[in-house]
Amino acid sequence: MNDFVAVVLAAGAGTRLKSKKPKVAHEILGKPLVNWAIDAARDAGAKKVVTVVGVGKEQVIPIVESSSDVVVQDRQLGTAHAVQCAMTSNALKDYNGSVVILSGDSPLIKPETISELASTLVAEDAGAVVLTMHLDDPFGYGRVVCEGFDTQDGDIMSSTIVRIVEQKDATAQEARITECNSGIYCFNTDLLRDALSKIGNDNAQGEYYLTDALEIIRDAGAKTVALECTDPDECRGVNSRKQLAEAITIKQAQINDALMENGVTMIDPSAVWCGPDVKIERDVTIYPNVIISGHVEIDEDTEILPATTIRDSKIGSGCTVGPNTRLFDTVVANGCLLDETVALESTLDDKVTCGPRAYLRPLTHMCEGSKAGTHVEIKKSTIGKGSKVPHLSYMGDTTMGEGVNIGAGSITCNYDGTNKHQTVIGDEVFVGSDTMIVAPVEIGNGCFVGAGSVITKDIPADSLAVARAKERIIEDWAKRRRMSK
Ligand code: UD1
Ligand code: CA
Repeated sequence: MNDFVAVVLAAGAGTRLKSKKPKVAHEILGKPLVNWAIDAARDAGAKKVVTVVGVGKEQVIPIVESSSDVVVQDRQLGTAHAVQCAMTSNALKDYNGSVVILSGDSPLIKPETISELASTLVAEDAGAVVLTMHLDDPFGYGRVVCEGFDTQDGDIMSSTIVRIVEQKDATAQEARITECNSGIYCFNTDLLRDALSKIGNDNAQGEYYLTDALEIIRDAGAKTVALECTDPDECRGVNSRKQLAEAITIKQAQINDALMENGVTMIDPSAVWCGPDVKIERDVTIYPNVIISGHVEIDEDTEILPATTIRDSKIGSGCTVGPNTRLFDTVVANGCLLDETVALESTLDDKVTCGPRAYLRPLTHMCEGSKAGTHVEIKKSTIGKGSKVPHLSYMGDTTMGEGVNIGAGSITCNYDGTNKHQTVIGDEVFVGSDTMIVAPVEIGNGCFVGAGSVITKDIPADSLAVARAKERIIEDWAKRRRMSK
């Protein structure tokens, strides 16, 4: 075990994403790219994490400041300059242990690999360890030139790094090297500080390259070691929307594999997207989702939500979820059935049934055995134990007791155009179909409300309330009409 701090480089623009949003703020399963790197460093045991921000810092600082120290790099002069900003900041200027450098655009790195990088620095008594990967198509990556590099055939015989050369500066032979720099390193701080003070910008891009530190550290007599990452997916950078999608698919598979390993059934794991903080218990079955086909036009800033996104949610055992369901910050207890349901910031107790096509908006609490059926919207309400809202209804700002039945098409009129008002419905109430309950209003225990009523007054317990126009019957009216034609 080796103590270390981590620096996450996240000041670049990411122009290839063609986005108004800085690259590192783009999300994988609900978590921004940069936060994946920060959290991996934290999980690996970093004593401190410092994030270097720059382009779009107004958007990046709010998402990183709760989990890392923030340093601003005002002008993006290169990766060495970014690290220099971090090392001279208040957060690190007096630090002299090991430093792990991570890229804010490499979200797939695992905590175990970061720990291994840090322990290799100590075990090898090295000045620097670079995480490398072999790629069939190394184009665009820095190439790792190791000792024994043969300029004729490009074969590499050792793991001692001589230097790292960027794609744009590489000779034809160097470009044939398939061992690539992941952009993830562990340095001895004193040697890193010394190297940073010596790095220039005389290269194809006119930037201060962090990769130049390797040659300088080796020239100072210290060991520079390549640690090959066995899973090249871990080192993938996200530089384009395509790579973003690929990274999402990889993370999705990792998370789903772990969930299935823990006893979750997925009918089609490629069509289930779960966030990193989701907890799903055994014997939950998750169905797949949605297809968009035909001619579709979609405007800028539109969000196409996957059918099943489950973020920061918990699902108890024996539940069936989906198809076409989205749960956000929602806790689902055991044995629930959710069919085409969207639930946001809601709580579902045991054996709740929702959908098809139920919409539970924030602060909905469905008590044990309750039901929100087809085309039903519920907001900021408690639906009591065993109570049912089966068809075409809206319940907002409502406290409902146990054993209530709400007839089809009934609505709480909770909004008067200015303010929201509360509805209270007691236990064992029967509300007939197509009833408007104009809040604020209270319906006592055991009441019956006639279908088609507009309820504006409180109803005392055990009453019948009917509030609709009287039915009028005019005998033979239709017959006379027919005969007059
Ligand atoms: C870098 C490496 C390259 C490696 C690749 C792996 C250098 C010179 N090259 O290239 O060897 O194969 O990563 O993905 O380091 N950043 C800043 N400030 C800056 C410049 C960059 O914070 O002034 C940040 C970026 O936001 C990004 C990271 O540093 O998160 C890497 O920068 P990027 O420009 O993407 O470097 P690459 O060209 O990918
Ligand atoms: Ca990059």
